[in-house]
Amino acid sequence: MKPNIINVSLNHKFNNISYPIFIGNDLLSNCEEILKIFISKRKVILIHDSFFSLNNENNEQFISFVEIIKKLTASLNLIGIPGGDKSKNISQLEYIVEESLSFKIDRGSLIIAFGGGVIGDIAGFAASILLRGIDFIQIPTTLLAQVDSSVGGKTGINSSKSKNLIGSFHQPIAVMADIDILKTLPRREFLAGFVEVIKYGLIYDFEFYNTLEKNYKDILNYDHLRLNEIIRKSCEIKSCIIRNDEKENGKRALLNLGHTFGHAIESFGKYDGTIIHGEAVSIGICLAFKLSSKMGYCPITETERVINFFKKLNLPTSLQQFSNLSITTSKMLRKFKYDKKNKNNQFTFILNKKIGKSFIKNNMDKKILIKFLDDEI
Ligand code: GLY
Repeated sequence: MKPNIINVSLNHKFNNISYPIFIGNDLLSNCEEILKIFISKRKVILIHDSFFSLNNENNEQFISFVEIIKKLTASLNLIGIPGGDKSKNISQLEYIVEESLSFKIDRGSLIIAFGGGVIGDIAGFAASILLRGIDFIQIPTTLLAQVDSSVGGKTGINSSKSKNLIGSFHQPIAVMADIDILKTLPRREFLAGFVEVIKYGLIYDFEFYNTLEKNYKDILNYDHLRLNEIIRKSCEIKSCIIRNDEKENGKRALLNLGHTFGHAIESFGKYDGTIIHGEAVSIGICLAFKLSSKMGYCPITETERVINFFKKLNLPTSLQQFSNLSITTSKMLRKFKYDKKNKNNQFTFILNKKIGKSFIKNNMDKKILIKFLDDEI
């Protein structure tokens, strides 16, 4: 079956950028035609999650992918790093950059990121700074990366202060999402990625949210058609939002629904797996809806509907479920201070008027926020 292709087009003042996202089944073992024009004999550095190994016969898709790349270039070098947010730091970045340079890359060389969100973000960041910027391709292998992080050019690493504070906007030249690889994902990772899919419905598309509520069982059973549909739809919504706002000066911030809370919560877990990104965002979205209702923006019935859906999916919905992280209101506020959406020392949150309609709330009243958090913790 031919892959679906979505074109991401960004309206730049002087040069429009456009790149394809290929979505389909069994693409990793059949990608020669797709990748031929992008690789065309360039030197390739394949930065991959070290979970995938050429010595592990269970990693068939990775092995066939590497075989295809070898056919398309005479020069291929691999750099494996562990997936997960623990790797998203400056020493891992330094390792990638120094290793890549030791392979004598030039400005025509190409980085391919093969893995989940962390691999894509750090490899993309390396691509953006090596020799002042070289091309890269995203091969996302988790649901979260396929529907969100591989698209839109946000790259970076975490700082000790908070998540994703060091990085750049650097668009890939292509993205290829193979649905079959999702079967290798632990259920917990799959559900965490599904949160970002639901997020699109909540921000922008009530009908899409309805479909997800209706068909979630098929999706959790890896129904190919449904997966294809939700990944395609998510990428369409994302590319539509970023078309006119690549650098998040406006509407792109909506994609941050649940993330101000989420990033803070996640950092209290020290990225050791106690709570993973999508789970923290799941709580963050529930909190954003609750806050929207508390402030009179969103009917409580809508908020309850969202929370019930997340509960049905066995996703965390409240801070109290993570009392082991010793979260307090003042610790949360300290984290919010590093949020990239803040303006003039004022917090910005993404709130909702209803399901399918998020908005940007600047100058958040701190007293309301403190009272809200005190009640929630
Ligand atoms: N993940 C949010 C964004 O790409 O803007």
